[in-house]
Amino acid sequence: MNDDSSSRIVAGLLDWISAAPAGARLPATRALVAEYEASPVTVQKALRTLSARGLIETRPGVGTFVRAVRTARPLDYSWQTVALRSPQHRLTEPSATMRSATPGAIALHAGYPDRELLPERLIRAALTRAGRSEVAVTRSPVAGLPELQSWFASELAAAMPVGVTPPTANDVIVLPGSQSGLSSTFRALVTAGQPLLIESPTYWGATLAAAQAGVQLVPVSSGPHGPDPDTLARAFEETGARAFYAQPNYANPTGAQWPKARAKEILDVVRAHGAFLIEDDWAHDFGITSDPTPVAAQDDAGHVVYLRSLTKSVSPSLRVAGVIARGPARERILADRSASSMYVSGILQAAALDVVTQPGWGTHLRGLRQQLLARRDLLVDSIRKHAPAAHITAIPHGGLNLWAQLADGVDLPRLVRECEDAGVLIASGSEWFPAEPSGTFVRLNYSGPNPGAFPEAARIIGQVLERLE
Ligand SMILES: Cc1ncc(COP(=O)(O)O)c(C=O)c1O
Repeated sequence: MNDDSSSRIVAGLLDWISAAPAGARLPATRALVAEYEASPVTVQKALRTLSARGLIETRPGVGTFVRAVRTARPLDYSWQTVALRSPQHRLTEPSATMRSATPGAIALHAGYPDRELLPERLIRAALTRAGRSEVAVTRSPVAGLPELQSWFASELAAAMPVGVTPPTANDVIVLPGSQSGLSSTFRALVTAGQPLLIESPTYWGATLAAAQAGVQLVPVSSGPHGPDPDTLARAFEETGARAFYAQPNYANPTGAQWPKARAKEILDVVRAHGAFLIEDDWAHDFGITSDPTPVAAQDDAGHVVYLRSLTKSVSPSLRVAGVIARGPARERILADRSASSMYVSGILQAAALDVVTQPGWGTHLRGLRQQLLARRDLLVDSIRKHAPAAHITAIPHGGLNLWAQLADGVDLPRLVRECEDAGVLIASGSEWFPAEPSGTFVRLNYSGPNPGAFPEAARIIGQVLERLE
């Protein structure tokens, strides 16, 4: 044995390893002895060297293998800088609301309800049935399963007065969640470079989708009763916009619900400007002390493009929504959908339809209302008692969130960070403003896990606020 021949084997095996997949088995010692014309002792020495470098591992009686963990080396993607050029639209970080909570933290930051608020038994049974049915092995039509289209149409029709012509199943396009419906609607009906009026504050995902679609956002301030119709009319006139995105029922984040008279005035403004109202009815199933009243129920002339999501009320895992649009607008949205996702998984559609057509669905929704009421009131009482510096602007009649205003000058990133350090996740309100925030706000979601910890969470928020003021 000598060092030279051991180094020769190490060099040869390094070449071999660099071309081998992780987990590949090295040739047997006998084969290496023959290949390198070295003694078994020299081969063993070379293998020990490679093992010490963490490149291989020997499993006694089995063999020697390339290790799955490779030594890190810096990768060079700099060529992409030239290939990609500057981004066309603003790139944003993923929303803080989508962060997973660390175990043990009290999560008031997220937007999706805890599983105890979901119809779990109905979901599991529906998935089993869908898995056994034809849809498990067939392609769904581009616009969705006809039965689910009918269900979405009939839900809206049920809210319509006698004089308004209800939508048909054909007016419905099934979506893989309403987020992608927002993207499609903005791309198809507003188009890149054109203005879109949008409530402020509003859902961060809508501003994100609009930015990616290259749409120019024009914020219109909105209060507990929705936007002021005169301000909205002026914004249409000044910008020439032909669309307004809004959440008339239980808006995310404020919980605002437009009174019926206000909704009618706003629809009149939209009609007078030959425009679309893109109505996001994300919280239709989350009424607490009122019922949702879709503005779309007052329209049969195709002015309202209506998005209804089942993602949060059925299951975040059965991500299904519907958009109801009439006339050429529907064809434009459908063309965008078929280009971007072709069709929605039939299993998800069939399972979602199964859940919402079971007799247990109505019972579930009635129970959910009571649970949301108790959770909302507990969080309101806890904040008022332990964190009075967080002023709850209005108690929502539905939805999943409280919107609380803080004194101007409170350092929001620091508040969020220090609350997190103390075990409470809250969402900075800044994400919900399409432009500069008009004040200092936080959004507190009352549908997360462990509502029993709300008083403790409020105590922590109150203590951090006291420190910061
Ligand atoms: C107002 C609003 N619209 C749309 C969505 C997206 O819904 P989906 O999960 O169906 O894509 C959300 C989700 O948080 C939302 O809050």
